[in-house]
Amino acid sequence: MQTFICEICGDAYIGEAKPHNCPFCGARMSFIKDGNEANPIVNQQVEVSEVSRKNLLETLDLEIKANAIYLCMANQASTYEIKAMYKRLAKIELEHAVIVTKILKIEMPASGEEACSTEDVENFKKTLELEDHAQKLYVDFAKQAIEQPIKIFFTALTQVEGDHGILIEKYLK
Ligand SMILES: [Fe+2]
Ligand SMILES: [Fe+2]
Repeated sequence: MQTFICEICGDAYIGEAKPHNCPFCGARMSFIKDGNEANPIVNQQVEVSEVSRKNLLETLDLEIKANAIYLCMANQASTYEIKAMYKRLAKIELEHAVIVTKILKIEMPASGEEACSTEDVENFKKTLELEDHAQKLYVDFAKQAIEQPIKIFFTALTQVEGDHGILIEKYLK
């Protein structure tokens, strides 16, 4: 057994080998390091520019809303698998929000409730829209970031939200 650390969320994974994706924030394997080599972005002192602050606050809002929407979708799911999948997506989006609060050194804002459909298919379509929107936004935010750790953060999130889209597309087939 070994301790691995995700450089995006800073959480430790204990296991025999690196997971393909961080179980907590979904970051791909390239961001997961041996524990003694990891330098997580949430552990770095980042001087946040005005534009990145604005982009991170928009990210925070979007991720908190995604968390609430996916919890609604989990409650409406027709099978245990879909329920469990949405609960995991909700946790991953919440983890993204937590990372932002750590970078900006702010408190987590209160989250409200979000509505969703009672039909899985409608929820899958809505999920694809949300993930596609987030992915495109994070591509721009990564480009706009002059701070290396924030550029890396948005690059990792672009991949994670893209991976969520790939997952949901399989349910729509
Ligand atoms: Fe992570
Ligand atoms: Fe996210």
